[in-house]
Amino acid sequence: MSSSDSTPGTLPRHVAIIMDGNGRWAKNRKLPRPFGHREGVKALRRVVQHGIDRGLDAMTLFAFSSENWRRPALEVKLLMELFSVVLRSEMKRLMDNNARLRFVGDRTPFSPRLREAMIQAEETTGRNTGMTVVIAANYGGRWDIANAARELAVEVAAGRLQPEDIDAGLIQRHISLADLPEPDLFIRTGGEERISNFLLWQMAYTEFYFTDCLWPDFDEAALDAAFDSFGRRQRRFGRTGDQVEQRGA
Ligand code: FPP
Repeated sequence: MSSSDSTPGTLPRHVAIIMDGNGRWAKNRKLPRPFGHREGVKALRRVVQHGIDRGLDAMTLFAFSSENWRRPALEVKLLMELFSVVLRSEMKRLMDNNARLRFVGDRTPFSPRLREAMIQAEETTGRNTGMTVVIAANYGGRWDIANAARELAVEVAAGRLQPEDIDAGLIQRHISLADLPEPDLFIRTGGEERISNFLLWQMAYTEFYFTDCLWPDFDEAALDAAFDSFGRRQRRFGRTGDQVEQRGA
């Protein structure tokens, strides 16, 4: 699916977020890093609820990258525990809000219990028709593209597909989240201005918004500020500004 054009004041349909700055938030308060992650869960709850209230179609949140395994073992353990706890504690809220929960990423390294909880959550919320909340867990954009390439290679090897038939549209159909609108807006908190192997394919035309705000401090007003910035941008998708204005007129 393609992204929507944005005219002034329009909201994004799909927002992708890198929730960065939990560790620094804790350090600023002389607290251990886990406190930052716990506070980060509160921000996650606020932001998802606000996305639901503002009528977004989807939100994709980067909870754990394929590179995050390099962190100290204790921090990785704590993050895994936090995922399990949050999964259980948020189900009612998601159901009450008619929201769907999905996961994207390679689940194989997660514990069988966590994997089971992920499947359960997806099944329980699967028939809801409101906002889709996607948690990117052990996700990497390059992993995603490599997966799509492998699936197509299998088709070619089986003689069901000719190499010359492979184009961007076909890759798109094999990439994660192909059934959702492409992210219109990407937000990264915590001051770094990079996409860190997030949705590399999906964000070809996404508007980027970076803020110094540390993730645990991110709230409804901060999300609205990002929406306002998005609403003021002219998205051209390769066309000229004049062409876009004529189409919008
Ligand atoms: C980045 O901050 C944050 C993470 C790697 C984890 C994100 C997790 C949460 C917000 C809470 C749990 C999420 C779910 C889905 C239950 P950082 O630790 O890299 O911060 P720093 O850059 O200041 O060190």
